[in-house]
Amino acid sequence: MFDNTHAHITTWVVALILFAVALFLHNSGNKKAMKIVQMILRLFYLLIIATGFMLFSKHSSYDPALYGIKFLGGIVVIAMMEMVLVRTSKGKNTGVFWALLLISFIVTFYLGAKLPLGWNWFS
Ligand code: HEM
Repeated sequence: MFDNTHAHITTWVVALILFAVALFLHNSGNKKAMKIVQMILRLFYLLIIATGFMLFSKHSSYDPALYGIKFLGGIVVIAMMEMVLVRTSKGKNTGVFWALLLISFIVTFYLGAKLPLGWNWFS
C-alpha cells in the first residue's frame, strides 16, 4: 500500500460509484437508503485519505509541491462530494459545488496520473 496505487485507486473508484448510487437513490425518492449509502461513502472517504496518505508519506519528497497539491486536490474532491450530497438531500442549490467537484477531480486525476507511481500518462 506504500509502494503501489492499487488500494488507493480501489477506494476512490468505489467512492465514485457510491456517490452515484446515493444520487440515484435520492432521485428515486429512497431517502433512507440514500442515508445508509452516504454513511458507507464516508467510511470510504477515510480509506481514500488513509491510502493516499500512505503513498504521500513515503514518496512526497520526490516532488513535495506536486504531491502537496495532489493531497489538497484529493481532499477538495472529497469535500465537494460531501457538499453535493448534503445539499442535494436538503433540496439546496448544488451548481457551484458540482463545478468545483469537476475541476478538483480533473486536477487531482491529472496529478495522480502524472506523478511517478502507477499510471504515468503525462510525464
Ligand atoms: C477522490 C479523491 C481522489 C482521487 C480521485 C485520486 C486520484 C488518484 C489517481 C488517479 C492517482 C494515480 C494512480 C496511479 O498512478 O496509479 C492517485 C495517486 C495518488 N494519490 Fe490520490 N486521489 C484522491 C485522493 C487523494 C488524497 C486525499 C490523497 C492524500 C491524502 C491522495 C494522495 C495520492 C498519492 C500520494 C498518490 C501517488 C502519486 C504517485 O506517485 O503517482 N489522493 N490518486
